[in-house]
Formats: sequence, C-alpha cells, structure tokens
Amino acid sequence: MDKFVINGGNALRGEIPVNGSKNSALPALAAALLTAEPVTLHRIPRVRDIRTMQRLLVDVGAKVDVEDGAVRLEAAKIVSPEAPYELVKTMRASSLVLGPLVARAGRARVSLPGGCAIGARPINLHIFGLEQLGARIEQSHGYIEAVAPDGLRGASVHFDRITVTGTEDLMMAAVLAKGETVLRNAAREPEVMDLAELLIKMGAKIEGAGTSTIRIQGVAELGGAEHTIIADRIEAGTFMVAGAITGGDVTVTGCNVEHVGALVAKLQQAGAEVTQPGADSVRVRATGKLRSVDMTTEEYPGFATDLQAQYMALMTQAEGIAIIVETIFENRFMHAQEMARMGANIRVDGKQAMVAGPRALSGAGVIASDLRASASLVLAALVAKGETVIDRVYHIDRGYEKIEQKLAAAGARIERVE
Ligand code: EPU
Repeated sequence: MDKFVINGGNALRGEIPVNGSKNSALPALAAALLTAEPVTLHRIPRVRDIRTMQRLLVDVGAKVDVEDGAVRLEAAKIVSPEAPYELVKTMRASSLVLGPLVARAGRARVSLPGGCAIGARPINLHIFGLEQLGARIEQSHGYIEAVAPDGLRGASVHFDRITVTGTEDLMMAAVLAKGETVLRNAAREPEVMDLAELLIKMGAKIEGAGTSTIRIQGVAELGGAEHTIIADRIEAGTFMVAGAITGGDVTVTGCNVEHVGALVAKLQQAGAEVTQPGADSVRVRATGKLRSVDMTTEEYPGFATDLQAQYMALMTQAEGIAIIVETIFENRFMHAQEMARMGANIRVDGKQAMVAGPRALSGAGVIASDLRASASLVLAALVAKGETVIDRVYHIDRGYEKIEQKLAAAGARIERVE
C-alpha cells in the first residue's frame, strides 16, 4: 500500500491545474448505458473510482475505450444488468447504474451499498423514486432487484431529502419513461446540471436542472453524443485551501470559479486574498494572519461537505475558535482525531466540531480514512513541522489524479512511497 511522506513548511506558489470532475464523470459514464450508440466523454479524470465504474460498465456489456484523455463507450446490448457487491462496496456511486439499467433493459440487480466511513448512506430515495416510476423492487441477499418489463412511466417524485446521486439516478430513469416526470426538492449541484446537458445532447427532454424542480418528458430512445465534463470543484477547492494554509500564492487553473463560491467567501472572511485573474482561474494569496470563521456544510450552492475536512485543516491555522457543523453526513469528522495527533486543538460533539487556533502542527504518522479526509491530512502536513507519513493513500487515489505531483510542482515536499 502506498504512503505519502510530506515535509511541511514550504509556502506553495504557482499554478495548479484541475482535472475534470469525478462526481460529474461517474453519472456521465453510467448515462452511456441509456443508448446503443457511442457516447464519447472528454476530460474524464484518471482516478480509481472512474476505473471502477468503467469495469462495472464492461461487466454490464458496454465496450469502453480510453484514448487521449477521452473515453468512448458503446453499450450496443446490455448483457448482464447487474452491479455486484465486489464493485459496489469499493464505490457507492455504483448505484448510479440502477436507473439507466431499469430504463434501458427493464431490469437491474444492484448490491445494496451498506455503511461507509462517512455515514450510513442508504439508497432508499433512489428506490422510492423508481417505484414511483412504476418499477417493482424487491430486496434479497443484499441485493435490490428492480423490474419494469413494460417500461417506466412518468410520475411526480418528491425527495424528502436532497440527494445528489439520487437525483441523477432518477433523471436517467425518467428520460426513457413514458410521459412526464417531475422531480421536486432535487439536488442543484453543478454535477446534476452537467449530466442534464449530456442527456439533452443524447436527445433527452429535460428542463430545470440546476433548480430544485426538474421536468423530464420521456422519449422512446436516446442516441450517441460527445461531451466534455466540467472541472472538479472539490479538487479546485482543495488546492485553494493549500494556497491559503501554507501562506502561499496559488492560482488554480481550468476551474469554474462560480462553483467554489461558498469557499471563496469563507477564504475572504478568513483574511486570504482571492482574485480571478482569468475566466477559469482563481488566485489565493495569504500573506497575513488567518482568522477563524464558522462554517456549516449545506447542499449546493452552500458550502460543500466534500470540502469540510480541508476547511478544518485551514482553521487549525486561524486565530480564534471556529465552529464547523456537518449537516450532510453523520460521521464525517474522522480526520479530526488524526489532526489532533498532529497537534491540532479540535473537539467534536455530534455534528459539530470546535477548532481552536492557531496551533503549530508537527509531523506524525496518520491514517487516511476516506477520500476527503485524506486530502485534509495532506493539507495539514503541508504546514506541519517535520515529517508526516500518511498511510492508506489509496483513498486519495479514488478521487485525486496525481495530487502529489501537482502539489510538488507548486513547491510542496511530498513523495509517494510504496
Ligand atoms: N440519503 C438518504 N437516502 C438516499 C440517499 C441519500 O438518506 O437514498 C442521505 C445520505 O445518507 C446523506 C444525504 O442524504 O446523509 C446526502 O447524500 P447524497 O445522496 O446527496 O450523497 P451521494 O449522492 O451518495 C454525492 C457525492 C459525494 C458527496 C455527496 C454530498 C457522488 C458520486 N458522490 O454522494 O461525494 O459528498 O453527494 O454532496 O457524486 C466524495 O466525492 O468524496 C463524495 C463523498
């Protein structure tokens, strides 16, 4: 298993480019199952979750070719509409094939995900939505089986809680259903909009993606399309925090600044200087002291839960007390204990963490518990005195492509060792 060895203390300087969004690429890959024609996707990040999804699509019967950064998918026939436990347990987003498979093949068998490091993460809302669309769903042996032999029919679906992949799953099911589907209390994340754009290129009729009410007129079939995935806003945000936490001057390029608006506001309130040198770049400079600023995670356009851990690392270096409230997942503070091992003063009480700073961090051996927690430990290590060894970096490889090379190019002393 690989580890990162990081020697902190260097201020990061220079440009750091971002990749295409993992969480946009995952549903886009699944969407290729909705048509027999080829779908070509550009800017797909080369990260482990994407490889897992590609494997799943191959198992299902799709042809997947990766060339020059583009992924070409062709699902001429669905051979086996199944997502086995072996894949679902390593990547919960596998449940994104549920909607497309029922819609296209009239049948899907998908393993239930079970718990994970950040919370229970059930898929009851995906199931509820598909039932509204007329699928019959049964659960046995850890799998859910959905059947709709005569096809799905449009319906009104009200999510009683906002779910990102749930919205995406239902959107993909509804595009081939007979009649109109209305999704209410839908997720407004940029990834949902990106998926809608791809589906529209494939011939789907969708209105309102990016708002909380999405209207879909089902069509008989979809065709091929070519699409470029949006920039990864969480990767961008992670590098922005890297600039601020190290007292550096980092320009993150190839990103959509609007998508990181909530983070920009927090960085500015904390005393960092944030400017926009170009249409798709954002520069973060932190020359003076940082101030503590409270933060609560919310659905988009609020502050992303996927940046909460990174923000906590930043607050260990800010003057005062910051209260961080996590409202999306019930167990997403695992990084706090690891940061405490590096000298941070953090108290966790249920959904709330209190971070008192600034504290001089010192390098230590720490363990990455999930994707974003690992990123936050890298950030903490960049300001810690001495050497930090981060174990289990396979978590970080699930969602960040070559993060160590990107940070090193901006002056970080970080190395991957086997
Ligand atoms: N929820 C339910 N029932 C459901 C679905 C969700 O109770 O059927 C709950 C979840 O347990 C959670 C909340 O609703 O407490 C929100 O979960 P959501 O469904 O929105 O999360 P997700 O779609 O499984 C996506 C991202 C996550 C990101 C969340 C929140 C993908 C592939 N994953 O997950 O990304 O944290 O939205 O924004 O898009 C990551 O990239 O590190 C990551 C975890």
